[in-house]
Amino acid sequence: MQAQSVTLVIGASSYIAQALIKMIIDRGEKVVAVTRNPLEAPQLQGQENIVLKTCNYSEESIAETVEEIFSFYRINNVYICNGILHGNGVFPEKKVEDFSLDSYLTVITANTLTPMLWLKNIVPRIEQQASTITIFSARIGSINDNKLGGWYSYRSSKAALNMAVRTLAIECQRRAKALKFILFHPGTTDTPLSKPFQRNVPKGKLFSTEFVAKRLFALTEGHAADANDEEIRAFVTRLSEQAVQERTDNLKYIDWDGQPISW
Ligand SMILES: NC(=O)c1ccc[n+]([C@@H]2O[C@H](COP(=O)([O-])OP(=O)(O)OC[C@H]3O[C@@H](n4cnc5c(N)ncnc54)[C@H](OP(=O)(O)O)[C@@H]3O)[C@@H](O)[C@H]2O)c1
Repeated sequence: MQAQSVTLVIGASSYIAQALIKMIIDRGEKVVAVTRNPLEAPQLQGQENIVLKTCNYSEESIAETVEEIFSFYRINNVYICNGILHGNGVFPEKKVEDFSLDSYLTVITANTLTPMLWLKNIVPRIEQQASTITIFSARIGSINDNKLGGWYSYRSSKAALNMAVRTLAIECQRRAKALKFILFHPGTTDTPLSKPFQRNVPKGKLFSTEFVAKRLFALTEGHAADANDEEIRAFVTRLSEQAVQERTDNLKYIDWDGQPISW
């Protein structure tokens, strides 16, 4: 079978991921979308340009899923969207007494270990390509930026993710020179993840998933998804001017506005 060039989105039930997938398929392009439970993302089902894969994120299941996907499709760019903050007995800690081993293991497995297992299996298959792999991080994973404290598990799992991906990017400077990595902070976005904490978000600072998806697409692809979108075209122009000033690193830890975040 002729390999096709497609985008791979992992953790596809994420509200931000779903907005991104919609934008990509609206351009007539194909997406392979991986999720634990397709029932959580009914809008991904029955769409001509979406290949939906179910994976339980065990080490074995991730290896098998990657093997299957890469034997059928020529994957171009990759987005790893997984991340949890609360739910199923997990809630962000306010004080150290709230810290629990079970919760921490749940959070670090979803936020750090699962993305790393995907990267372990994907990188060797695209190391000769000029692809971009975006991993959803968060500004809260910045050690320098931590002035507020709290949220031990989420915060430290994202910091660990940042360190692991930075280590991988250094390894890839030797073995995969054309591969680029983005650790992406979407900003506070209106999804189930931020729902319990939206009351304190200043007006105008709670982003829609569509807004974030457009920005992310522009950051990874270097152009607007919709050529008629003036705001995004202006954003892309600003990014390309900014890029002239930057070193050509293979890793960026950046926010929705293309601004670098301090490690
Ligand atoms: N929303 C915000 O304000 C905000 C701010 C900063 C950073 N982020 C980051 O952005 C990313 C997307 O978040 P979102 O706001 O779109 O969240 P969301 O709609 O709540 O999506 C949750 C994501 O986490 C995955 N997930 C849930 N439970 C999991 C588990 N036990 N193990 C592995 N993966 C699990 C889901 O994957 P499945 O498809 O497999 O269910 C999905 O990709 C996350 O990494 C989050 O940390 C979000």
